[in-house]
Amino acid sequence: MGLFSGHFAALLLSVMLVVIEAEVHHYDFVLKEKNFTRLCSTKSMLVVNESIPGPVIRVHKGDTVYVNVHNQGNYGLTIHWHGVRQPRNPWSDGTSHITQCMIEPRTNLTYEVIFSDEEGTLWWHAHSNWTRQSVHGAIVVYPPRETTFPFPEPDGEEILVLGDWFEVDVNYVIHEELKVGGFSTHEPNCSTFNSQPGDFHDCSKETTYRWLVDYGKTYLLRLVDVHMDELTFFAIAGHNLTVVGTDGAYIKPIVTSYIMMAPGQTMDILVTTNQSLGEYYMATRNCYSTTTVHPGYYTQINATAILQYRGNYSSSSPSFPSSTLPYYTNYKAGIDFMSKFRSLASEKYPVDVPKNISTRMFVTVALNENVEDLYLYMAASLNNVSWLDPTLSVLDAYYWNISGFYTTDFPDEPPTYYNFLEEYLGLNVTQSFMATKVKLLDYNEEVEIVFQSTNVLNSSQNHPMHLHGHSFYVVGLGEGNFNPNEDPKGYNLIDPPYQNTAIVPKLGWFALRFRASNPGVWFMHCHIEHHYTYGMNTVFLVKNGGTVETSMRERPSNMPSCRSSSIHGIQKSKNSAKTLDKLNMI
Ligand code: C2O
Ligand code: CU
Repeated sequence: MGLFSGHFAALLLSVMLVVIEAEVHHYDFVLKEKNFTRLCSTKSMLVVNESIPGPVIRVHKGDTVYVNVHNQGNYGLTIHWHGVRQPRNPWSDGTSHITQCMIEPRTNLTYEVIFSDEEGTLWWHAHSNWTRQSVHGAIVVYPPRETTFPFPEPDGEEILVLGDWFEVDVNYVIHEELKVGGFSTHEPNCSTFNSQPGDFHDCSKETTYRWLVDYGKTYLLRLVDVHMDELTFFAIAGHNLTVVGTDGAYIKPIVTSYIMMAPGQTMDILVTTNQSLGEYYMATRNCYSTTTVHPGYYTQINATAILQYRGNYSSSSPSFPSSTLPYYTNYKAGIDFMSKFRSLASEKYPVDVPKNISTRMFVTVALNENVEDLYLYMAASLNNVSWLDPTLSVLDAYYWNISGFYTTDFPDEPPTYYNFLEEYLGLNVTQSFMATKVKLLDYNEEVEIVFQSTNVLNSSQNHPMHLHGHSFYVVGLGEGNFNPNEDPKGYNLIDPPYQNTAIVPKLGWFALRFRASNPGVWFMHCHIEHHYTYGMNTVFLVKNGGTVETSMRERPSNMPSCRSSSIHGIQKSKNSAKTLDKLNMI
């Protein structure tokens, strides 16, 4: 009894300590149109607090943040906290049509962003239409108060947001595309560092982003990849990179001369300033999965920023990482880097890799071209299902138990098995159909998903798949068709990396495992904007576990109503008629 109460007291004390240590922060995000000039042309964009990237959210592990989003723009939007697991709180996940309806112009919504075990760099972005192109910013999660990093305390830190600049309005582009059902020719005009294209671009030299450093220090560089469409290589002339974390979790250090990352991913990198005083270019270059760069496709002019040492030295032009930044088509360099990730898997930073898998899914990933009423339109799919946004959020439909907005039959496997990587696949395997199919999971169920890339339309590509509400372990990665008898033997169940976004490699596969420990409604999608818009998505509906602590929270009373939600053209015509009736019910 004494022992029991002793334990109980210790437990109570540690609970109290956690309560004392965690803090609550408040932010105001004011969304407004503002003019920006890049590449000699000016356009208006919707941004947060007049800046792009928007404000940085800084917290310690386990804190809670209230963000009051005031929409003073011209169209509705939602904001998502990418990689923040939000235990029991899908209500603040900010995913349009999945967990909420739009925050309409002249209204506001306060999100409650609950941090739990994330530590490192994450980000926030709009999660409606293509608004995230200008509405995004970094989230920095420091170690718990009174503790430190699993590496020597850095002397300083820096955030670089890697994004793109579009001369045109991206929401206009996607709207036009959806009207005709094809991909447009409006590619981004260039990549950017903290929204600046850098020295090599027209009208950009004056505003090139500069990172000022002192000699002989070690800095923690936090990279956030907010690109809309392409994978990216990154390198710094003359400096090695030591990658120590990704997606808000630490990894065993990787010493490398370049990195590759995909839209949605974040990387924490130590950089030691041990070179002669001077200026050094940091540069990005797209990583194409094709062996030839499509002529006229995207600019091949590098985006750059400058690492600038403080001190006195005669300035010569900065050196460029020509020998370390891989060439566009060096896809192998990208894959090599990807396969180096390992969790710390130490006593202080343990892993918990699911070993009793009860749900196994084999999911084919494809771009499709479908025929309907003699009309050809583009689509993207998982197991030949192209996600169709419902007009009421899935979360509300689930919470209120209103049928007709989604079905629970997302398939565990593709309709047929074939050589997924064959060229010129026949129409019988390449058609997808639009539907709102979710996958039901029991609370705490252990799930394995193998994503298989396909060569439908001869257009196998890389797909950064992102899961909301959970991170997952990447247990396997390979080329070709997945072999269910052989490939699992090579799984890493010892120290696989813990990520929220991982790449299905072109003409290959990857396997992930996670425990469905977060009750709620969670989106899973490709983070390439075209693919997401065209339906390469599904939803996991994780059931409640039977107690209050294992169940979703109550619906907050301030959730926006769905009545006037802005919906994309194609999708609107397809399901608005049937759902409008239902909406009148609530
Ligand atoms: Cu970065 Cu579904 O989001
Ligand atoms: Cu994709």
